[in-house]
Amino acid sequence: MDNPLAPGGVRLPPAVETVNLVRRFGDFTAVDHVNLRVERGQFFGFLGPNGAGKSTTIKMLTGLLAPTSGEIRVLDRDLAAEPLEVKRRIGVVPEDLNLFERLTGAEMLAFTGRMYGLARAEIAERASELLALMELDGEPKKLIVEYSHGMKKKLSLACALIHRPEVLFLDEPFEGVDAIASRTLKDLFSKLTARGVTVFLTSHVLEIVERLCTDIAIISGGRLVAAGPLDELRRGVTIDVEGQTSSVPLPLEDYFIQVIGGARTTGDDVLRWLG
Ligand SMILES: Nc1ncnc2c1ncn2[C@@H]1O[C@H](COP(=O)(O)OP(=O)(O)O)[C@@H](O)[C@H]1O
Ligand SMILES: [Mg+2]
Repeated sequence: MDNPLAPGGVRLPPAVETVNLVRRFGDFTAVDHVNLRVERGQFFGFLGPNGAGKSTTIKMLTGLLAPTSGEIRVLDRDLAAEPLEVKRRIGVVPEDLNLFERLTGAEMLAFTGRMYGLARAEIAERASELLALMELDGEPKKLIVEYSHGMKKKLSLACALIHRPEVLFLDEPFEGVDAIASRTLKDLFSKLTARGVTVFLTSHVLEIVERLCTDIAIISGGRLVAAGPLDELRRGVTIDVEGQTSSVPLPLEDYFIQVIGGARTTGDDVLRWLG
């Protein structure tokens, strides 16, 4: 959805915008002058190989990590100046999930709901619906420490949703989640974007982004190498296969490898000792 209009016909400012965002760890630059723009209601995929800087970026966008330099605006507010106002209106599933492992799922949701100032009855209603949707309601006494990774991920997502965020940030949401739960999550995300929620997800799994996202950015070595509507990005690519150029839409995998540059293929001489 480009240039979304509010009911009065007023153009809404972007959901997320960064200007020259940089994060260094010592001498190492993990995120290098990244300029992102995510419109309201977009299903945005932030794609890149392992170690590209996706998690570092999402941590900065959600106030979990301070940038070395650069600006971040979320929902038209300066994150550095108004972190609490921004945090009230966003939901986050961070890389490390951020759960209190000695609580049950329902307790964790209740704690999160109270943190956002929701009324007790509202928390109870939303928590039971979320737990049912995530199929986490089977063993109510189970502590989070006993959850599988996929269950923790789903609970973290439930916590990120309980206050009805306007922007949802998800760091590798499908990692470690089984096929059935993945389907539930995909349906849920699509429903949310249809209702105007902006979803910003990171993934190194191309097929997921290809199937779900309307708009993408690709980061590699801390730098943005491509950004825009998925269809346009692919249309803009011409491939040269054995002397024949073609401009058919590329499978995202081919596009990804093309813009990242240099697919590492395993030739016959590699790992010969494996037999
Ligand atoms: N706290 C940290 N200290 C030092 N280096 C870090 C730290 N966090 C991330 N990095 C480095 O920054 C780079 C990007 O990491 P990350 O953002 O987690 O990548 P991605 O999520 O795309 O896989 C990697 O090289 C990683 O080792
Ligand atoms: Mg990561």
